[in-house]
Amino acid sequence: MTYRIAPSILSADFARLGEEVRQVIAAGADWIHFDVMDNHYVPNLTFGPMICSALKPHALTPAGQPVPIDVHLMVQPVDALAASFAKAGADLISFHPDASGHVHRSVQAIKAAGCQAGLSFNPAEPLDVLDWVIEDIDLILIMSVNPGFGGQSFIDSALRKIEQAKKRIEASGKDIRLEVDGGIKADNIARVASAGADTFVAGSAIFGQPDYAGVISAMRGQLAAV
Ligand code: DX5
Ligand code: ZN
Repeated sequence: MTYRIAPSILSADFARLGEEVRQVIAAGADWIHFDVMDNHYVPNLTFGPMICSALKPHALTPAGQPVPIDVHLMVQPVDALAASFAKAGADLISFHPDASGHVHRSVQAIKAAGCQAGLSFNPAEPLDVLDWVIEDIDLILIMSVNPGFGGQSFIDSALRKIEQAKKRIEASGKDIRLEVDGGIKADNIARVASAGADTFVAGSAIFGQPDYAGVISAMRGQLAAV
């Protein structure tokens, strides 16, 4: 199993974002998770496509390999901003199906713009929409906190939802990433991986500590034992 760690720059130092992205990549990040909040779909406001394009040149390994920018849209409506993020250098774009009037159309638009498409599910949101679009997506993002803020506690019912999503992915026969977002730390990541997740967003757990590499390697150590 290939596991990915996706540090969320929501918890980084916004006054030094480029440097934070480079440092967390040097510390072992696989993806950069980019949380877009609009003060409408969620009660917080973060950053838009201009910040994404400013960070794109920093999303490189020390050897110069590009590191995917994983844009998590917590916005309503979806389509115009998704198109702007595709132009701004996003590699993956996930949105919440309840924030789009036409989920299938939004997925197709993201893919037509050259990005991978993901669907994100809030803690009380069912997975039913996957009955109709799982063939078309590249990523399922299970929220294990209510979206809007970093530093919240993991909601345990997300484990059951991860198990259900994993079954759907296996039944689809497709290569779809299963990402979990919210409250992930070195001391619960193994449980989340055991439920079926392969990609782990972590904001405060990484950026809240001085030694990013230490946290990421502690997470990888836990994953190695799953
Ligand atoms: C919450 C965001 C998360 C957030 C996670 O709405 O989608 O990506 O950064 O933060 P932690 O890891 O601190 O729970
Ligand atoms: Zn997120």
